[in-house]
Amino acid sequence: MEKTLVLIKPDAFSKHYSGDILKRYEQEGLRIVAMKLLKMDERLASIHYAEHIGRPYYKDLVGFMTSGPIVALVLEGEGAIAKVRRINGKTNPAEAEEGTLRKQFATASNRNAVHASDSPESANREIHIFFNETEIYDGTYTIPD
Ligand code: CDP
Ligand code: MG
Repeated sequence: MEKTLVLIKPDAFSKHYSGDILKRYEQEGLRIVAMKLLKMDERLASIHYAEHIGRPYYKDLVGFMTSGPIVALVLEGEGAIAKVRRINGKTNPAEAEEGTLRKQFATASNRNAVHASDSPESANREIHIFFNETEIYDGTYTIPD
């Protein structure tokens, strides 16, 4: 089973879209195996977005990501990394496909509601920025009577 890191960004969180976003992932068969609310600071943003340091949009990105609470979660499922990227849609909501979360909830490339890891390497790196092993559920899900 593959795992991926998702962030519900400050724009979506402040507009009360967190529940709708979580619901969509669950409806698509993904399982939440870790979740927390936090506020990023500049240092955490620079670790998570290390590959973007120096890009023209970096300063705005850090200002935005540190502007309010975010929800960090780990989703698990078959092909979860590609699946969540498909559900999220393209970075720029103007180009995002119908039915994607960014089409529905994002307003601009720099206010785009959600983050998801783009490869197994980044998933492994990003999950462990936000969660340690004891915070990630590793059992099987059973439905109680
Ligand atoms: O998030 P995603 O993987 O789709 O896009 P990225 O190219 O890895 O960029 C990371 C984040 O930087 C985006 O989600 C945007 O929040 C921000 N960004 C931006 O504000 N303006 C751009 N031209 C490109 C990225
Ligand atoms: Mg990316």
